[in-house]
Amino acid sequence: MSTLLLPLHLFTLGFLAITIVLADHAAFSWIRGKVAILDEAKVRKYHRNTWIGLIGMIVTGVFLFIPMREYLLTRPQFYIKMAFVVTLIANAFVIGHLQKRATTQSFKDLSFKEKLPLFISGAVSTVAWLGAATTALFLVEEF
Ligand code: HEM
Repeated sequence: MSTLLLPLHLFTLGFLAITIVLADHAAFSWIRGKVAILDEAKVRKYHRNTWIGLIGMIVTGVFLFIPMREYLLTRPQFYIKMAFVVTLIANAFVIGHLQKRATTQSFKDLSFKEKLPLFISGAVSTVAWLGAATTALFLVEEF
């Protein structure tokens, strides 16, 4: 079972990467005005799949963590990775709240004040996903 955990963790990350690329592609089409509004069912599906993937990463991550906990709890990299994971969870709630704009209004009709949180949460999401994946590469010291 334990030998399957890391591949499962990485498989879930692959599923997430595909979901995020599809969701970002739809979001950019909306921002560029190629589509006036996005299909609500599709946006909900992307958001649901992102939650499933994020929860999958956390569950498989916890099972990877348990046997290595004494070592990982001494590693600053582990705490940095967890900070990125907490950021992703908080940002997923924010995106769930903001995504309604893309299914009800065209991007060009939004005010700057309405656009700003979209850009901030998009930037936070990119930094936190890349941060969690990159710090994972430095969790375990090579001997
Ligand atoms: C949600 C975002 C997450 C991302 C993007 C992510 C990414 C990764 C990646 C890319 C690896 C492979 C590293 C390698 O092969 O050297 C990895 C390994 C690992 N992850 Fe995660 N992970 C996430 C969440 C978690 C969580 C929540 C935990 C624990 C609570 C966790 C614990 C671990 C552990 C213990 C390893 C094994 C390290 C090793 O044996 O080299 N991960 N993660």
